[in-house]
Amino acid sequence: MTSPTPSLAALLDAFDEPTMIVQRGIVIRANAAVRDLLGHETAGRDLRLAIRHPLALETIANGKASDVEVVGIGGADRPWHMQVRPLDGAALLVRLSDRSELAAAERMRTDFVANASHELRTPLATIIGYAETLAEDGEVETGTRVKFGAVIEGEARRMLRIVEDLMSLSRIEADRFRAPEEQVDLGEVGRIAIDHATALAERRGCRIVAAIGDGLPAIRGDFGQLLQLADNLIGNALRYGCNAKACSVEVGVRVVTDRVALIVRDDGDGIAPEHLPRLTERFYRVDSARSRESGGTGLGLAIVKHIVERHRGTLSIQSVPGQGTEVMVTLPTG
Ligand SMILES: Nc1ncnc2c1ncn2[C@@H]1O[C@H](COP(=O)(O)OP(=O)(O)OP(=O)(O)O)[C@@H](O)[C@H]1O
Ligand SMILES: [Mg+2]
Repeated sequence: MTSPTPSLAALLDAFDEPTMIVQRGIVIRANAAVRDLLGHETAGRDLRLAIRHPLALETIANGKASDVEVVGIGGADRPWHMQVRPLDGAALLVRLSDRSELAAAERMRTDFVANASHELRTPLATIIGYAETLAEDGEVETGTRVKFGAVIEGEARRMLRIVEDLMSLSRIEADRFRAPEEQVDLGEVGRIAIDHATALAERRGCRIVAAIGDGLPAIRGDFGQLLQLADNLIGNALRYGCNAKACSVEVGVRVVTDRVALIVRDDGDGIAPEHLPRLTERFYRVDSARSRESGGTGLGLAIVKHIVERHRGTLSIQSVPGQGTEVMVTLPTG
């Protein structure tokens, strides 16, 4: 015995995307997603009352197979891809695919290009200004010339750092779906990163306290990227989390449930809660003047986030203004 054919309603409800059947301007069937989107019972209604969108209505009224992008159904800025397909008789199948994620990704891409151009343009404008003065005035005295030369060099180096960070970011992104293969001792990564940071810590009068566990399980990772991650976090703690005379930065590596965690804690000024969700955005800085002064490009935590994602890890940043910041990265073992 064959089982009964599923009903049309069951079939439409199986689609997550808003899908309906329209005939002669009337919605004859609509799935649950349409009801969720339009907020009322749609079946049996005049289409013009169900969807008050001129382009969508016109496309459906044409009665031909077509695909259009429409914005504003179920919310002023919501973008949709609408598919209209003729069925038997005069009926049409209308399906809406949500394009919000695509639109957000596109916005991020254009913002990124605008931000990167701005970040490179600023030092470039300074370089041109100083170089022009030197080129136009042959009488510039030695002291001034040396000073201008130093500014030009500093700004050019800044541009180089931005370009190198951007290249690093795109390399990590390109490798996103290629799981890292080396067996890495995160404790060793922590120790080397502390070594790298010693000179900066001394300059800033800051003590680094290491708390690296023994016999830690190896993790599957990319040694170079994990070192870059640890360098970034410790660098941030020293640059932004170290103001008072007797400040200290703690670098811990230990097992947390079934993972290995790298924890970098400082007792600095902390970060106000409204900034926390945006810290891993490219070029986002809490205090751009201060970050710029210390040579920051605002790309460090974006790089950290991508490295963590490639390693299937987690990243948490907790901060209490006036007390300090703790950044924890956990990575799966094995
Ligand atoms: N431990 C911390 N304490 C206070 N603020 C921090 C801390 N870590 C990061 N921040 C803030 O977050 C911002 C973003 O950090 P991120 O590492 O992404 O960029 P950066 O340090 O400015 O530049 P880069 O790391 O590329 O040199 C910093 O500019 C700083 O304002
Ligand atoms: Mg940084």
